[in-house]
Amino acid sequence: MCGIVGYVGPKKASEVIIKGLKRLEYRGYDSAGIATINGSLSVKKGKGKVAKLESLLSSGVEGGIGIGHTRWATHGEPNDINSHPHLSDDGKIAVVHNGIIENYNTLKKNLSDRGYSFYSETDTEVVAKLIESFLEEKPEDLKRAVRLSLAQINGTYGLAIVHEDFPDQIMVARKGSPLLLGIGEGEMLIASDASAVAEYTDKVVYLDDGELAIIRKDGYEVHSSQDEALTKEVHELAMSLDEIEKGGFPHFMLKEIFEQPKAISDCLRGRINPAKGTITLGGIESVLDQLANARRIIIAACGTSWHSGLVGEYLFESLAELPVEVEYASEFRYRAPLIGEGDVMIVISQSGETADTLAALREAKQKGALVLGVVNVVGSSIARETDAGVYIHAGPEIGVASTKAFTAQVTVLTLMAIKLAQHRGTIEDKKAAELIRELDQIPGKIEHVLKNASGIEHISNLFTYAPNFLYLGRSYGFPVALEGALKLKEISYIHAEGYPAAEMKHGPIALIDDMMPVVVIAATDHTNDKMVSNIEEVKARKGRIIAITVEGNKEVENLAEFVTEVPETIDELTPLLTVIPLQLLSYYIAVNRGCNVDQPRNLAKSVTVE
Ligand code: F6R
Repeated sequence: MCGIVGYVGPKKASEVIIKGLKRLEYRGYDSAGIATINGSLSVKKGKGKVAKLESLLSSGVEGGIGIGHTRWATHGEPNDINSHPHLSDDGKIAVVHNGIIENYNTLKKNLSDRGYSFYSETDTEVVAKLIESFLEEKPEDLKRAVRLSLAQINGTYGLAIVHEDFPDQIMVARKGSPLLLGIGEGEMLIASDASAVAEYTDKVVYLDDGELAIIRKDGYEVHSSQDEALTKEVHELAMSLDEIEKGGFPHFMLKEIFEQPKAISDCLRGRINPAKGTITLGGIESVLDQLANARRIIIAACGTSWHSGLVGEYLFESLAELPVEVEYASEFRYRAPLIGEGDVMIVISQSGETADTLAALREAKQKGALVLGVVNVVGSSIARETDAGVYIHAGPEIGVASTKAFTAQVTVLTLMAIKLAQHRGTIEDKKAAELIRELDQIPGKIEHVLKNASGIEHISNLFTYAPNFLYLGRSYGFPVALEGALKLKEISYIHAEGYPAAEMKHGPIALIDDMMPVVVIAATDHTNDKMVSNIEEVKARKGRIIAITVEGNKEVENLAEFVTEVPETIDELTPLLTVIPLQLLSYYIAVNRGCNVDQPRNLAKSVTVE
């Protein structure tokens, strides 16, 4: 949420920053801005996307140092004035910020009483004025001014600061919002996300909460909140440029949908041995006993990751016979949750930075539970704060609507459930071996589903202007119904609801008439008869049935108006196949409606505010 990038070195900073902001635009895109120093501080900013900012810079901005920002508004509507960077009264300090300053009203009042003036509705502007106020006491010490300012701030921040009188340095500080330093040859970068620096360096330092860093073109220093100098580990970034570019696809979302066979193969690589029927998950090996003896497992996540958590619940309960609760991370923390020693929390997050998920993790940890992560972004806050975990290795996901992360999360949860079941002795060797062999086949089966993309496009064309959609599923089809509905609403702005198929009779059935598309996920064997009855009920009320079912399911095919088949698989693995047509359905409908698929309105990838 909000992208930050900064550069100091021999290149034209504005060019590096614009490129970086374009890569970060998926984190927020309602306005953008840049501050550079070339003798004096110069700021360009405004409502709109980074391309618009770029056009403002067409005359060229000189200077080898600067910071930039792409915004997802929290305080103050997206407009030119509220765009970042924000400035001090004397116009010498520029600040970009990701996060929320919770006590900004109090700080603003104090500063106003002392004669500082404010021009925006943002919380960020107080940071520039606060630093300015402390600098007045000791103008030569910018670090002191920043440190004292940070001490007054409640809330979360990733901050980057430049000052005209300190033209060789960028200061950054982190509390609750990700920031990293990119170490180049004779140049340094800072960014909220590694994709913005990957083109220039593969050496990064991740800042931790409470840390403040200063970068100059020839080096960096990191300090704790107590101002002690810290030696930080330098990490190697494993990110290729291909992974963060569209590679011939019109949208990142479509690219990522089509990348799923590879994402799942990457996720399985080195972890399964289909011949022996074994699974290796190095990341949780050391805590396997504790996990296997857990009193209960609590899965906490948000959005799509919460949906994969629901699949996880079904898998853990049926295979490993362990009680599982799936929690919205945002609710968990504010409900005095009963959790403690003996419990295990699994947090699921693509970005590894979702503020609510991070807060749930901290709450569980503080109460004594073992906390495991299922995370995509290596080195992210959640990955670093969990006790152990399993990366999903899906590669960078840039489309705001999550697709390949969902299937890779479900893959990891399946591996964990089987591994745990083997460890607990709750699964027969034959069944485990069968599941592992079938998992190995899943990438190929997804390829097969993707080959029928044009069939799904055809269905999408017929329903592009439907005002509502209903998605129904049972068992493993239910989380998929929720995920299908979420995908549709977030990128096409069509109202859509996902329901357990039987729950339909308790209310939603009243919505069904000959105008209502009803997507039924009918691919699990053990619920087929019941699902067929539910489809009959929809048909009796003239609902327009779009069925996702397995090849050869004639019963369902005869009832549905439109059918998309997926290859047959074991019930537990059906979500990995049935979700694919739903991702494509929402994609094509959104494109037909002229929506910005990769950057849907009001949304941002990585929700780093609570
Ligand atoms: C939906 C979507 C969101 C995320 C949610 C959690 O397509 O992308 O619902 O799933 O914001 O994000 P992570 O997984 O990064 O914690």
